[in-house]
Amino acid sequence: MAQEPDDRVICVIGAGYVGLVTAAGLAELGREVRVVEIDPERRAAVSAGLTPIYEPGLDVMLEAVVASGRLRAVEAMDEGVTGAGIVIVAVGTPPTRDGEADLTQVREAVDEAVRHAAPGTVIAIKSTVPPGTTRALQRGSSRDDLAFVMFPEFLREGSALEDLRRPSRVVVGGEDAAAVSRVAALLGGPDTTRLLCDSVSAELIKYGSNAFLATKISFINEMAQLCELTGADIEEVSDGMGLDPRIGRSFLSAGLGWGGSCFPKDVRALETSAGYHGQSFWLLKAAIEVNTQQRRRFTAKLVHGLGGSLEGRRVAILGLAFKPFTDDMRQAPAVEVVRQLEDLGAEIVATDPVAIDRARPLLPRTSLVADPYEALTGADAVGIVTDWPEYRDLDWGRALGLMKGRLVVDGRNYLDGEVIAGHGGIYLSMGRRPRGPGAPLPGAAAEAGSRAVPSVPLG
Ligand code: UGA
Repeated sequence: MAQEPDDRVICVIGAGYVGLVTAAGLAELGREVRVVEIDPERRAAVSAGLTPIYEPGLDVMLEAVVASGRLRAVEAMDEGVTGAGIVIVAVGTPPTRDGEADLTQVREAVDEAVRHAAPGTVIAIKSTVPPGTTRALQRGSSRDDLAFVMFPEFLREGSALEDLRRPSRVVVGGEDAAAVSRVAALLGGPDTTRLLCDSVSAELIKYGSNAFLATKISFINEMAQLCELTGADIEEVSDGMGLDPRIGRSFLSAGLGWGGSCFPKDVRALETSAGYHGQSFWLLKAAIEVNTQQRRRFTAKLVHGLGGSLEGRRVAILGLAFKPFTDDMRQAPAVEVVRQLEDLGAEIVATDPVAIDRARPLLPRTSLVADPYEALTGADAVGIVTDWPEYRDLDWGRALGLMKGRLVVDGRNYLDGEVIAGHGGIYLSMGRRPRGPGAPLPGAAAEAGSRAVPSVPLG
């Protein structure tokens, strides 16, 4: 006999990145949370209060909520769902070969959850799903005593706890107004903006947000290329454009482009989804293409800067994670860039403060070392791939002294080019003015670089 659903008890299905952070956050806010996780190692880690993923602050938070008894990892769905007022589905929606979101895990989780859910339970879909999915799941469940809502998440890796504690907005979409309000009450405080809407709109708010931000980055990356061709400086252009409050400075940082577990997958899924409805979403196709080109442009700068060939050259790569403050290597630009450089004959020595273990299986040919100075020793050139603060704060006098060559290619526009030039380095970036003795004249860099775009298959 199922217990009455109680909103003080929350079941989260999936202890992946989103599920775990959400579960820990809700437990911190005082709810009793059960996380259903099928992977025994992951479950054991959570039960011991240890985080299986790297996220600043999550270790402390998880330890506290597990010790207090408010968060529990369970294997069986009935144990997780029974008595819970709200069941949050936070399983993966990885891309299929065609770029669609693969809903297998979502369907399985929902099928099992509805078998154990008492009447009145809300099933909240937190996984990122294409428009219409939440409604289809409800129809497919053949339970009209349960409410289904879409509850998109906007957490950023590296600052997820802050985003959870102080969300920029809480969006919940569904056809049952009471259920929508119950879910909307889970996060945020009295001042939090809550947007309650239908489930299809909530699904598109999630995709649209990620796709818009990714497009904004691709736009500024195209501008960065134009800056190189014309002799302008992208930092000044981004700052100037960003001063317009309608534009804003965030996500206007040019560089190697977007990676990670969300933007690449979601932009493609939205574009594919639009295609199913007969729409060619040209802007997204272009954003994806620009993003691919950014990696090649970076590689081309190294090729050109080293005289046109990487054969027998040693290149140090600083940073592997797709962005700082995470060890996530999913769709990390480093993987493409390192493979391109290796295919062109370079020997790569790469480093990262936290992502080396995750990078190892992806980069079997690459030497991975923990110490950046070791990576730099004897290198003909160095490429900055992730904007970790420790790389900006390196003793660049010492670093350049250890290197054989002087070329520094900053894929994140993150270092102080004057400092590099002051130590005799040649500083190239993604749209900033080149610096240092022998650096190409403003306006010449990209022109020369684009001639050196490697023609090897990149993948
Ligand atoms: C992104 C969104 O920002 C979150 O709101 C969303 O919840 C999340 O996806 C998700 O769907 O789960 P995240 O993938 O953690 O979060 O990373 P971002 O901080 O958004 O950065 C994405 C990529 O864009 C990174 O590779 C970053 O280096 C790049 N980026 C970001 C730029 O190249 N330039 C910028 O100006 C900003």
